[in-house]
Amino acid sequence: MTFKMGRDMPKRLIAGNWKMNGLRGSLDQAKAVRTDIAHIPVEVEILICPPATLIAPMSECLSGSGIATGGQDCHANASGAHTGDISAEMLADAGCTYGIVGHSERRADYRETDEAVQWKALALRRAGLIPIVCIGETLDQRKDGSTLKILESQLIGSVPKDVGGAELVIAYEPVWAIGMGLVPENRDIAEAHAHIRQVLKQMSVPDADEVRLLYGGSVKPSNAGEILKIANVNGALVGGASLKAEDFLGIIRA
Ligand code: PGA
Repeated sequence: MTFKMGRDMPKRLIAGNWKMNGLRGSLDQAKAVRTDIAHIPVEVEILICPPATLIAPMSECLSGSGIATGGQDCHANASGAHTGDISAEMLADAGCTYGIVGHSERRADYRETDEAVQWKALALRRAGLIPIVCIGETLDQRKDGSTLKILESQLIGSVPKDVGGAELVIAYEPVWAIGMGLVPENRDIAEAHAHIRQVLKQMSVPDADEVRLLYGGSVKPSNAGEILKIANVNGALVGGASLKAEDFLGIIRA
């Protein structure tokens, strides 16, 4: 008889999404995070997703620190006539190991569909990167009680087939909580994350129990500890509070 050893859940992931913020001088914030965790190591995986212009210098300045660099979006193709776009292969070449896709700001600003998000996530895997697929309901959808249905349809539409385990991250970000200082009740986060896990299993996502589910939306040092204790919350996707080393470290150490 052979026994299959159970694998460990990958480390908790604390990811910073700088959005369209940061000039070269902002690299000092990343350096401060690097210095701090070198002095007092942490048990979590840390990721910073700067704007495209800072990806290469960011990955250079974080090299050897264990802190990962990620992109905020990518094109589905590897190369070609797509002015202004960046491919997953280019992100990898610049030092990224992760890429965010389907953030609600991109879904809203560029009318990105679930299908487009799925192609982008596949492109990241093709280039060897780990996709962070973002999903989340609007305030109207929360109010009319369709949150879980929306999350399910976004997952089915956005998550590529045969990608799972440590090679897939899902970020649950209620659109109404992002940048608003509002956070759902703990029980609502727990309900959403449990549902996401169940849908991933129904979809036969490989190693669905090992897929990290991040919560995102107004995560701060003051609320991170409580949020990260919720079942099926395996990390956080942090916007505003990732821009300053002190705040980001407060979340990393929560
Ligand atoms: P926020 O953004 O932390 O500023 O709310 C989160 C996100 O959009 O990823």
